[in-house]
Amino acid sequence: MTTDPKTPLDPKPPLDPSQLHPLPAGQTLEQAIEEDDDRPFEPTEGTPSTPTLGALWQKRISRRDALRGFGKTSLALSLSTSAFALAACDTSQASSFNFIEIEHGVDETHHVAPDHKAKILIRWGDPLFADSPAFDPENQSAAAQLKQFGYNNDYVGFTPLPLKNPNSDRALLCVNHEYTTDRLMHPGLATAKDPRAAYTKEIAEISMAAHGGSIVEIARTNGEWETVSDSPYNRRISTLATQMTIDGPASGHPRLQTSADPSGTKVTGTLNNCAGGMTPWGTYLMSEENFHMYFSGNVEGHPEERNYKRLGLPRGIYPWGAFDKRFHIEQEPNEANRFGWIVEVDPYDPTSTPVKHTALGRFKHEGCETNLTGDGHVVVYSGDDQRFEHLYKFISSKKVHPTNRAENMNLLSEGTLYTARFNEDGTGEWVPLVYGTGELTEKNGFSSQADVMIECRYAADLVGATQLDRPEDVQPNIKTGKVYVALTNNKNRPDSEIDGPNPRGPNLWGQIVELTYANNDAASTEFTWDLVVTCGDPNDEAVKADWHASTSPNGWFACPDNLAVDPKGRLWVATDQGHAWSQKSGTADGIWSLETDGELRGLARMFFRVPVGAEMCGPCFSPSGEALFVAVQHPGSDGTGGWKPFARASTYDDPATRWPDFEPKTPPRPSLVVISRDGGGQVG
Ligand code: FEO
Ligand code: CA
Ligand code: CA
Repeated sequence: MTTDPKTPLDPKPPLDPSQLHPLPAGQTLEQAIEEDDDRPFEPTEGTPSTPTLGALWQKRISRRDALRGFGKTSLALSLSTSAFALAACDTSQASSFNFIEIEHGVDETHHVAPDHKAKILIRWGDPLFADSPAFDPENQSAAAQLKQFGYNNDYVGFTPLPLKNPNSDRALLCVNHEYTTDRLMHPGLATAKDPRAAYTKEIAEISMAAHGGSIVEIARTNGEWETVSDSPYNRRISTLATQMTIDGPASGHPRLQTSADPSGTKVTGTLNNCAGGMTPWGTYLMSEENFHMYFSGNVEGHPEERNYKRLGLPRGIYPWGAFDKRFHIEQEPNEANRFGWIVEVDPYDPTSTPVKHTALGRFKHEGCETNLTGDGHVVVYSGDDQRFEHLYKFISSKKVHPTNRAENMNLLSEGTLYTARFNEDGTGEWVPLVYGTGELTEKNGFSSQADVMIECRYAADLVGATQLDRPEDVQPNIKTGKVYVALTNNKNRPDSEIDGPNPRGPNLWGQIVELTYANNDAASTEFTWDLVVTCGDPNDEAVKADWHASTSPNGWFACPDNLAVDPKGRLWVATDQGHAWSQKSGTADGIWSLETDGELRGLARMFFRVPVGAEMCGPCFSPSGEALFVAVQHPGSDGTGGWKPFARASTYDDPATRWPDFEPKTPPRPSLVVISRDGGGQVG
């Protein structure tokens, strides 16, 4: 059992909290992020296309509709296409999914397909160790939080115990804790006259302790999975206290050196761990996403001005810089270069030191799912989740060793990082980001591969990477070799700047792109692409959605985020509409099945729904497909003003829901849920 030793914060505040970048009046953290100004620098080659190219794309999609029997079920088109759509759907192909669909809606609790059951597995504050204090929200401490399940569970990974036995009744769940919703965690904080002043060092420490990840053993008895609350494998990884090392091309570089770490090779903690991935050798990858939110200070004239501005740094939404100088960019100019990476953790060794791999680039990593090339190199996909950002893939220099796990631990230390360029004709290329080639030289301020990895976004701009509508999870289907990319939305894309994979502007609803390689080999630097669905309401002509014509009124969704492929090779989609859910779909977020093959391609069905204010994260299947683990993130938080029965901002003292406990004094708690089929068998 491991809780990392607590590192006390610098006792001398380097700056008055009131000097930090404040949240605009009345704005929540989620709204502030949504409003971030997030245009990349100068448009570069291969970036927003002209209307002419957009028109080309329209031609292409029309051809695809005709070939595949897609129905544009908008009112205006329904007369002209419905007969065609019916004919196209008059098919004997049976759905590969088997569950009773649930309805769109919003209320204070979760809902699952009625032929399935959903059980709460573990909640924020639940014990992970024999000596963990009981959850006591009115008497929190960082020390207690370091021994309890963290806040805002996001990615969920499953790995069997032992690794080589997928049928084992024991397993480890690897769970990210992306961020804290402080106003729902602490009594009185949201209603204080000056919430900024009410934000104390203790609250900052609790928040840092609640960030990161948890590794928790689960055991199956009579088909039911439960957590093992005192397993020697259980571990908390946090921003506050977990020591990590840095490897790859930027390790030790002067731009990563700080007063606490003149070597530039060691860092305390990880930040904003959104989605993630598991490697073929059973390690847990944690993405660092919106790390800009935690840093404060003045960037004008800063030595890292270009780099930090390109990342929206410093955003100062969490006033940690008032209590710990490493989160203040004037006090510790390089600390922010030590975040924005992918972290690898060995869940089988609770004493192991997590590693930040700089060979995979520094940006706002949504996730990091893996696959293998035909000849055994590991591939890691990652989206950079911001409007107009890019898509990346890493291929290791060395091959995965079939038996030597220790050797595989170094695979992510060395390789080639590529960014994606999409062409209008349905083809695309992966362009390598290699120092000394093309634009990636001294003339643009790059002196080494370390510089290219530290300023990965800028490097991708220079090679003409396509600007996408917020790339979220990138999910390879290991059965087919195809890759699915969730582009969640982009309200800032003008109609004049639509292009192939970004067909609408403004785009409030998102789309799912499918990449296909020749011979299904991920080693290829060329691919073809197609849209599986263009999301939003198919009955609203203005939305220009594109679904299979048989999609029910509950089957469509908006803002795809996390993706999962189950053991049968079927795709599942989790959504995150944010605070504006009521304008996007009017339903709470959830999980939908989505057909990708044959005549039913583009047909989705609603399987699970989260309580009001929550976002759907996780989805993760057990190797048998008989259990589905899902993460309900920030229940009672987002857009509660748009929910008529509540219609106001949600706080600790006055929450929109008290899910999942529904106890009068217990705040809503982000929790993992395990779903199984009534009577057993394959989920979905
Ligand atoms: Fe952490 Fe892209 O959501
Ligand atoms: Ca998310
Ligand atoms: Ca995924």
